[in-house]
This record gives sequence, C-alpha cells and structure tokens, in this order.
Amino acid sequence: MADNVKVIIDGKTLECPIIVGTEGERAFDIAKLRSQTGLITLDPGFSNTGACKSAITYLDGDKGILRYRGIPIEQLAEKSTFVETSYLLIHGKLPNQNELEDFSEAYNEHSMIHEDMINFFHAYPSTSHPMAILSAMVCAMSAYYPEFVKENPTQKEIDRIAIQLLSKVRTICAFSYKKSIGEPFVYPKYDLSYVPNFLNMMFSSPTHPYKLTDEVVRALQVLLILHADHEQNCSTSTVRLVGSAHANLYASISAGICALWGPLHGGANQAVIEMLEIIHKDGGNVQKYIAKAKDKDDTFRLMGFGHRVYKNFDPRAKIIKKCADDLLKTLGIQDPLLDLAKQMEETALKDEYFIERKLYPNVDFYSGIIYRAIGIPLNMFPVMFAIGRLPGWIAHWKEMIQDPTSKIGRPFQIYTGAPKTEYVAIAKRK
Ligand code: CMC
Repeated sequence: MADNVKVIIDGKTLECPIIVGTEGERAFDIAKLRSQTGLITLDPGFSNTGACKSAITYLDGDKGILRYRGIPIEQLAEKSTFVETSYLLIHGKLPNQNELEDFSEAYNEHSMIHEDMINFFHAYPSTSHPMAILSAMVCAMSAYYPEFVKENPTQKEIDRIAIQLLSKVRTICAFSYKKSIGEPFVYPKYDLSYVPNFLNMMFSSPTHPYKLTDEVVRALQVLLILHADHEQNCSTSTVRLVGSAHANLYASISAGICALWGPLHGGANQAVIEMLEIIHKDGGNVQKYIAKAKDKDDTFRLMGFGHRVYKNFDPRAKIIKKCADDLLKTLGIQDPLLDLAKQMEETALKDEYFIERKLYPNVDFYSGIIYRAIGIPLNMFPVMFAIGRLPGWIAHWKEMIQDPTSKIGRPFQIYTGAPKTEYVAIAKRK
C-alpha cells in the first residue's frame, strides 16, 4: 500500500505522506502544500478535511460504529453511568473504585454556583431560551473563578475546572428551568448522584417533592452517555478552534454551547418535536410532509434525519428508539408523536429520495420523545444535549491544549470579491 500521495502541479511533484489511524483510516498530509506550491485545498463545510489527530472517539459512519476510548457505545449505554463515561472521556481510561468515588465526590463538592451568580437568573426575561442563559453563565464562570483563567494550566488545574464545569452546568440548567416557570430554585443535594440530583433540582418544589424512579434515571443516564462525545462535530470543532487561541475552557465551552444551539446540530431535538407537533395538528399527513422534505423549492427538511458521517444508520438512534419504546411502556404513556415519528421513519426509509441520499434517523429523532415523557420542556432539549456533550468538549479541549504540536486554527479562503478598486466617494460627507 502506498505510503505517500504525489500531487503534481505545473510539472512539479509534491510528496504528501499518508497518515494511518488505529482502525486503518487514511489521510494524506497537505501541511506543506501551500508553502511549496502556493495552492490551498478548498473544502466548504469541511466535508473531507481532518483537522487534528485525536485518541478520544472512533466513528465509522458506513458501519454505524461509535466508540469512546475504544469501548463500543452499546456497552457503555447498557452498563456505564454518565459520571463514569465522563471520566473515561476526560482521563482516557475507566476509573478504578477509588478514582470513581473521588470523581463522584468532587461532583458533589462543586455542585453549587456562586450565590452572586443567582442574580443573573433574575435579570433574564422569563421567556429567555435556556441555551442563551447557559452559554452566558458558562462564560461568566471565568469571572467568578478567575484562578483558572490562565495560559498553560497544569493537569491538576484542568481536572479541577473540568469537574467544576460538569457539576455546575447541571445546576445552572436546572435553575434556568425553575426561573422560566417562576418557581424557587432547588439546591443540589449531597446524598444524590448526578442524574437523580438533576431531576430533583428540576422537578422538586417546596410543596411537591419529586419521586425518583429507576426507569427515568436510567433513560436519562443512557441519553447523556450517548451524547457524551461525537469526535469533530460542529460544536466540538468550535471548542477546539476557540481553544486553539488559548482561550480558557469556560470561554471555549461557551462558544461550543452556542454552536450546538443551531437546529442543524443540537437544536434538532427541539426542532423534531416542533415538526411532529405541526404534522400532528395538520392531521398526521405523513406523505404530505415527506413530499415537502423532498421538494427543493420548499425549505422544509425532515428534522432528525440525515447526518454528515452516518450513511447507514446512527447507532445512537437505534438505542434511543428502543429506550423510548421501553420508557413509554413502563410509564404507561401513549404519545401520539412517537407513533407519528415511527410512521415518518418507515415511510422515509422506503422512499427513493432518502435511500439514494442515505438519510436515516439521527440521535435527535427519538430523544425528544424521551425528554417529553420525563417532563422536560421543549426549549430545554438542546440544553440536555449540552449537558451530555460537556465531557466530550472538555476531553477535546484538554487533548488539544496538551498537544505540543497543536496550532492556532486559521483556515484560508478563495477571495471572490471585487478586484482592486480606487476610492471615489459617492455620498456627500458632513
Ligand atoms: N431532509 C431532507 N433532505 C435532506 C435532509 C433532511 N433532513 N438531510 C439532507 N438532505 C438532502 C440534502 O438536501 C441534499 O440533497 P441534494 O444532494 O439533492 O442536494 C443531501 O440530502 C445531502 O445533504 P447535505 O445537507 O449536503 O448533508 P450534510 O452532511 O451537509 O448535512 C445535516 C447533514 C445533519 C445537517 C442534514 O442532514 C440536516 O440538515 N438534517 C436535519 C437536521 C438534523 O437532524 N440535525 C441533527 C444532526 S445529528 C446531531 C448532531 O450531531 O449534530
């Protein structure tokens, strides 16, 4: 097998070494292309560009494989917890008993937010989208915990800031929900583990204590694990790009949250339910909306369908669909939107348009059904994605900042604007 690629430009040959990953995936290194030939590569949307080497997550979109640190996502979803999976992603290995206990203890220790930050919640309009509050609050943490805002933080400082973020973000999310419904905040409880603590902060009130059930805790646990990382997606690439300028972890994560908010990325879980609600109200005419999704003159897209990388099936969607079915059955909930989603999926998967383009349900297609069943409001769905993705963002920021070969991210462009134009004033100056 060749170990380099020859690029011939104007009769001059440039040899680009081939880089091979653990699973045999191959890339050719074009780092010297511009300096030696004056050419850049053009790849809008980075459909074919590797931005880094990474040892965190392996993904094979054709085979529907997703592994964190080598461990298949199916095994983690069945056997792990979100806290353990977070440790795995951030530290590169599963924790032993002591490490897990220390890690969980640190979650408890850092779960409160600075009391002065509570004022922020009161300053936001009650109609604020919780992603707006979350991104701002995470960035604001850099003002409240400035001891960690420095270049070249030590390993110990990175670990401390990571755990602080993981724990406090959960509290911020629950508080932003309480603010939106005008209820008093419920503070984190020391005797509850990560997911039960979150549910308690969300749904307990002074008059109605929340009753935790194993099924709901497990379903949420599974969703968070499945969202925990997805290699170089839009928000993770954002975290890496912002962090590549040596911006601190709070600022980098805040930028990642903003990227995730978009409906083509983590905002899709909210968009799916909004779409299903529209279709349901419109009489459940599946064919009509499939036709709209195919119509190039119509901006309607089948939300929760399609993926840049998965071209066979999304392994996360498979697990989530079963999880949604099981949870609704256990809770005795009949959700017409679940039936509608299944009909949409069945119809789309038989349709030539979707077959030809290899469009399948993605992680966001069924996750909203679970959030609804748990009682999480629609505008909090992207926030749930953010809580889940946090360990992945942290792991990537850490990997990049500790890599001595990493450089500031700075892509090029092909300029298509006006050629050199002389300045001739058109407007009269005052
Ligand atoms: N409905 C209808 N047509 C679609 C859809 C869709 N959901 N997704 C892609 N297509 C068509 C697209 O119009 C294009 O057709 P053509 O070749 O005729 O121009 C073709 O399929 C390829 O699509 P693309 O937009 O070039 O693919 P992409 O890799 O740039 O975009 C995507 C991927 C996820 C943004 C896109 O599939 C999409 O917009 N899906 C709906 C939003 C969604 O569910 N997002 C969540 C993604 S999973 C969570 C995450 O990790 O972010």
